[in-house]
Amino acid sequence: MAKQIEVAGLDAYYGAHKAIEDITMTIEPRTVTAFIGPSGCGKSTFLRTLNRMHEVVPGARVEGKVRLEDQDLYGPDVDPVSVRRTIGMVFQRPNPFPTMSIYDNVAAGLRLNGRFSRSELDGIVESSLKGANLWNEVKDRLNKPGSGLSGGQQQRLCIARAIAVRPQVLLMDEPCSALDPISTLAIEDLISSLKQDYTIVIVTHNMQQAARVSDKTAFFNLAGQGQPGKLIEMDDTSRIFTNPGQKATEDYITGRFG
Ligand SMILES: Nc1ncnc2c1ncn2[C@@H]1O[C@H](COP(=O)(O)OP(=O)(O)OP(=O)(O)O)[C@@H](O)[C@H]1O
Ligand SMILES: [Mg+2]
Repeated sequence: MAKQIEVAGLDAYYGAHKAIEDITMTIEPRTVTAFIGPSGCGKSTFLRTLNRMHEVVPGARVEGKVRLEDQDLYGPDVDPVSVRRTIGMVFQRPNPFPTMSIYDNVAAGLRLNGRFSRSELDGIVESSLKGANLWNEVKDRLNKPGSGLSGGQQQRLCIARAIAVRPQVLLMDEPCSALDPISTLAIEDLISSLKQDYTIVIVTHNMQQAARVSDKTAFFNLAGQGQPGKLIEMDDTSRIFTNPGQKATEDYITGRFG
């Protein structure tokens, strides 16, 4: 659980368009890292290169290295499906499987592996829903559809589904942007408790959120229209928000960007 990620000299392309350029960073285990920066600077693209979701887009490719501890994630023998199991993802809009029950939503990834008894599944579903801080709200209606939950509950269901397969890293792309403030705080609390077991990377446009939940913050920026996004700096979150090393970072976090 909770492994370190090391990225070196990473470029990502959509066809001929280079979306991000020469990104090098280390993400420590059991930390929350926030990615911030203006729209289009490549935060989501970079996030998706970390679990090989980027290449799902036709014509998309990556150059450079991503390592999870001692494993080269883009090595020739690596199965991208197993990478996506080890490095799970939670999306902007909660996306529970609409026709499935709450229980089946959480169990879906485990059933793909097909080697769990019913009682083992019961145990993992319960511990995942507890881990996602949703158990008390749904334990009496596990067989009702996941789509019947509130937006914030659906997002916690998606987090339960992601942690059920016991990933080492959780990637979250603006996981609160479709949620009300109370549900947002619930997810932020959850992120803080999950970092005891997982390495978490979260993309957010909400500076307060980055300041509240993350240990490290990475600021990405664009040099201009059509230019690739770059990592400007990464540091302790407290430092990025009080005394960043680069003027572009300061301009962005103080709202003078543009
Ligand atoms: N599926 C795609 N096909 C082609 N180009 C894409 C695709 N997805 C993103 N891009 C391009 O890659 C660049 C980076 O986009 P990306 O979505 O990673 O930015 P972002 O920082 O996540 O932005 P936002 O804050 O708006 O979510 C943009 O120029 C975008 O137009
Ligand atoms: Mg994005």
